[in-house]
Order: sequence, then structure tokens, then C-alpha cells
Amino acid sequence: MEFFLDTANLDQIREVNDLGLLDGVTTNPTLMSREGGDWREQASLICDAVDGPVSLEVIGTTHEEMIKEAKDLVSFGPNVVVKIPMIPEGLKALKELTEREIKTNVTLVFSPSQALLAAKLGATYVSPFVGRLDGLGQSGMEAVDQMRTLFDNYAFNTKILVASVRHPMHVIESGLIGADVITLPYATIMQLMQHPLTDKGLAAFLADWEAFQAEQQ
Ligand code: E4P
Repeated sequence: MEFFLDTANLDQIREVNDLGLLDGVTTNPTLMSREGGDWREQASLICDAVDGPVSLEVIGTTHEEMIKEAKDLVSFGPNVVVKIPMIPEGLKALKELTEREIKTNVTLVFSPSQALLAAKLGATYVSPFVGRLDGLGQSGMEAVDQMRTLFDNYAFNTKILVASVRHPMHVIESGLIGADVITLPYATIMQLMQHPLTDKGLAAFLADWEAFQAEQQ
């Protein structure tokens, strides 16, 4: 399973990259606006800092606007994946971008039927938002599971990129289902490596060793 970081923050990107855990980055207009400043400069720095796919999202809501923006976004680097919203105009743009061999990430996907349409039109990734579905009292992971079955039944190459992740169990469940990629907020990726028994165990090992060394003197 590939790990993407769901952020536009360069410090977080560099830190996770230094851990060797960074396979790619996803951004969205909210994450980009949180960083402030010149978004073009920020996008360019992110693309340079990441040795893997970087999703940059279009703002336009018509097919023509999305295509125009996509052409601009791909100029930021060879690793750019154009993020397109799951709306009818987005599907039109998706078809054209697939024909132009531009990589795409269909975002704001909440149902298996939406994922199926995106896969039929050749999306590189579909992003089911599991946390937002859970928040409505629906099962995000059940939707991902159905997407996996649909894609496998018809051998679609579209990758399932689990998004809107809220906690480590989303990561484990995604892995058990066989999702291709998961995009994680910085806090969740840090949570994955923590366990109180690890800290307690290490403290005990170090204390025992220190006592042993003191006895030797
Ligand atoms: C995905 O690419 C999105 O950026 C993201 O996962 C949205 O998640 P949220 O529900 O935390 O905003």
C-alpha cells in the first residue's frame, strides 16, 4: 500500500520524506489556502520536494475551465496528477485528460457508482472520502470494499486512493481491503508508529541497562 501525505505544508512533507515513508502528496484548495502566500510558488516547491505523484486540484467547475487549468497545472512538474471533482463536467474533462494521457485523481467520491464511472473514463486514481462518509453515519470502508470488488471484476487499472482519513484503523482496514493508496494527514501518519507499550518497554530496557552499567563500576 502506498502512503501519500494529505497536506500542502512543506515542513510536514520533508519530515515524512526523511522517515522514508513518503510515496506521494495530495493537496486540495483548503489545504493550499491554509499555507497562505503564493499558491503557484507553493505548488512548485511541493512538486520539487516530492519524488512521487503530487495531486493539484482544479478550481473551475466547467469542462473548459478544468482543461485549461489542467494544462497549466501539469507545467509544475512531471509528477503532477490533476485532481478533478466528481461532477458531470468533471467527467467530461476526465475523458479528455485520459485521451491526452494526463494523470488524474477524481476527488469527492462518496459512492461505488461514482468510482465506477471514474474508472470507466480512465481515471488514474479515485479518492473515496471515508471520514466524511463515516461522519454521516455511513460506512466509508464498506464503500471502499465495494469499489475494490468492482475494479477487480472488470480489471480496471484505476487505483483506489483512500482519502479523508481520520485514524489508524482506517489505514488497517484499507490495507485489509486491498486499497492501492491511502492519503494521510501528518498527525495520523505519526500515530501509526506510536504505541504506549513501545515507549514503556524502551524506558524499561534503558533503565535496566543503566542499572547494570552502574553495578559494573
Ligand atoms: C483528499 O485528497 C483530500 O485532500 C482529503 O483527504 C480531504 O479530507 P478531509 O475530509 O479531511 O478534508
